Amino acid sequence: MTPPLAGERSQPRVFVTRRLPGGALDRLASETAFDLWQDELPPPREQLLRGVRQADGLLCLLTDTIDDELLAAAPGLRVVSTMAVGYDHIDVEAATRRGVLVTNTPGVLTESTADFAFALLLAAARRLPEAERAVRDGRWTSWHPSFLLGRAAHDATLGIVGLGTIGQAVARRARGFQMRLLYSSRTRKPDIEEELGIDYRSFEELLAEADFVSVHVPLTPETRHLFDDDAFQRMKPTAVFVNTARGGVVDQAALYRALASNRIAAAAIDVTEAEPLAPDDPLLRLPNLLVTPHIASASVTTRERMAELAVENLLEALAGRKPPHCVNAEVLAQ
Ligand code: DGY
Repeated sequence: MTPPLAGERSQPRVFVTRRLPGGALDRLASETAFDLWQDELPPPREQLLRGVRQADGLLCLLTDTIDDELLAAAPGLRVVSTMAVGYDHIDVEAATRRGVLVTNTPGVLTESTADFAFALLLAAARRLPEAERAVRDGRWTSWHPSFLLGRAAHDATLGIVGLGTIGQAVARRARGFQMRLLYSSRTRKPDIEEELGIDYRSFEELLAEADFVSVHVPLTPETRHLFDDDAFQRMKPTAVFVNTARGGVVDQAALYRALASNRIAAAAIDVTEAEPLAPDDPLLRLPNLLVTPHIASASVTTRERMAELAVENLLEALAGRKPPHCVNAEVLAQ
């Protein structure tokens, strides 16, 4: 950790749990005295607890668990700013109770995440990883009418589970592929149905009708293991499952069973229940699984914007103003 900057003790003290892309930290350096965890890997728990002890603000990532114990160890903490849209790694209820603002970075990662979800959908549908391996392994012996046959995305039915901004961005891409669009969601969105030409279905109906199912719900107690044995059982045996949301939305053992028994055709996932996925995880033995290391938002511009927004949220909160994206604005009224 770097020591606080000399002569800047009156500035708010901030702990940052990783180096950030772009120039976001330069702005932080000019307005705060900050300690930066320099390692590529997340700070171990003890270092995180030590880092926040004197801090007014914490800039963290989705790999950092911010729970009541940590908040109790940081009596001066006023804001937790996460460089992520998902904040399931933060105990927001505990933060609110302790008067700590929680901020996140929605919006700026919508399009990159939707691009990536669509890339996964197409790659799994047309078996890109298997095809690439076949060439490298010398198994491209001839053009053959039934070599590596995949599933067409165009004209197929896409079921979007969770029609927030990212789900809608995926729907816009799918329209370009002439896909038929369905969605399920806690609340119906008639204006968006009209605008995107997307039809509402119950979760169960969507699973039964869709050729592709793409998940875009946050991880909450209600969505944990939404995709279990029963859900996969309801899907078509030809269906392709795509998850760029959170691993915890899926019961990973159930996903394994569905893929291993060809209950569904394929899955493409950017997130897993435990991250990173262990190299010996049984899922990795399945040819019909495509897995990437939680990189859906990882384009240069998007990650820079996420970092800038996380800094902006943090500085606004430390200045006593309402940050652009606050998860528990009720703290401001306390
Ligand atoms: C988020 O922001 O929640 C994403 O999962 C990280 O890209």
